[in-house]
Amino acid sequence: MSIPALKLNTGALMPAIGLGVSAGRSKQSRSEAQNWVQWALESGYRHIDTAWIYRTEKAVGHAIRASGILRPDVFVTTKLPWHHASRVEESINDSLQNTGLQYFDLYLMHFPQVAAYKDNSFDTPENPRDFDKILDKPTLNEVWADMEKVLISGKVKAIGVSNFSIKTLEQLLTTAVITPAVNQVELHPYLAQKELVAYCQGKGIAVTAYTPTGKETVRADPIIVDLAATYNVSAAQIILAWHIERGTAAVPKSANRERQRENINLPKLSTGDIESINALDHNERIANKAGPDGKMLGWTYEQLGW
Ligand SMILES: NC(=O)c1ccc[n+]([C@@H]2O[C@H](COP(=O)([O-])OP(=O)(O)OC[C@H]3O[C@@H](n4cnc5c(N)ncnc54)[C@H](OP(=O)(O)O)[C@@H]3O)[C@@H](O)[C@H]2O)c1
Repeated sequence: MSIPALKLNTGALMPAIGLGVSAGRSKQSRSEAQNWVQWALESGYRHIDTAWIYRTEKAVGHAIRASGILRPDVFVTTKLPWHHASRVEESINDSLQNTGLQYFDLYLMHFPQVAAYKDNSFDTPENPRDFDKILDKPTLNEVWADMEKVLISGKVKAIGVSNFSIKTLEQLLTTAVITPAVNQVELHPYLAQKELVAYCQGKGIAVTAYTPTGKETVRADPIIVDLAATYNVSAAQIILAWHIERGTAAVPKSANRERQRENINLPKLSTGDIESINALDHNERIANKAGPDGKMLGWTYEQLGW
């Protein structure tokens, strides 16, 4: 099956499979990302998903230049971190400088919350989840208004959100002049988020799945493993094909050339097999789940609408 593209509400096309470029916490693993981003581009990837907080923007910029691929031929996403909420312009300028790109194809508000580190620093501590406090201001509506200004400036071609629920999207839409082009959320067979996907698609908001293969937890599910044997592909290929059938995009991360190739060569699943995968949903978060205090980045699931 060839990989389709999703048409965004801006009219732009976003390839439905992108390469996730979250690369761990060490300086070395982040700079090594340049190699595997370049392999992915050589293998045919034309959608790259990074974020200011991943510290891989530099590696992404180097890889794109080294690949020789023309800038308009690759779709690049980055994200505004929660502690830059009142410094949106400064943050996008920093992301552009990190990558050396003139613009991003998509700029996402990484989380609906607004947080601050000690002394309101622009930088992050070793563990970005060690923020100092959650703030009431600016509100997510005010942050979105600043995102809209970035769009008008031409530094990004589309704006969107990440980790938003129906609840937080409804809140955002009370004041938004521009409807988000994309909502990037955790999505895999154990967390199918059927209502959220239908809500977004009904409003013309494309949905992108993060942690799309559900890591080893979902890849090792016996139903997925059986289907992989039936289609003679890997578990990841079965799960990614399921995303495509749902009309959602996905950004699997792989630093391995072989697995990168697998992830863009997907089988066409039968209706019955799609239904068997749908039946695995039990609302289980794998990537971003609440800590022992019941909170995710300072908010309860109730506040997040998760
Ligand atoms: N917006 C957000 O808040 C948010 C949160 C989390 C993630 N994300 C985005 O989503 C991307 C992917 O998320 P993720 O890394 O959590 O989940 P994932 O892509 O589902 O899983 C990545 C893991 O699966 C392995 N893998 C990839 N393809 C495979 C295959 N075909 N067979 C077997 N193993 C395979 C990778 O190992 P190898 O590298 O060794 O192949 C890696 O350990 C991130 O890079 C980031 O861009 C966004």
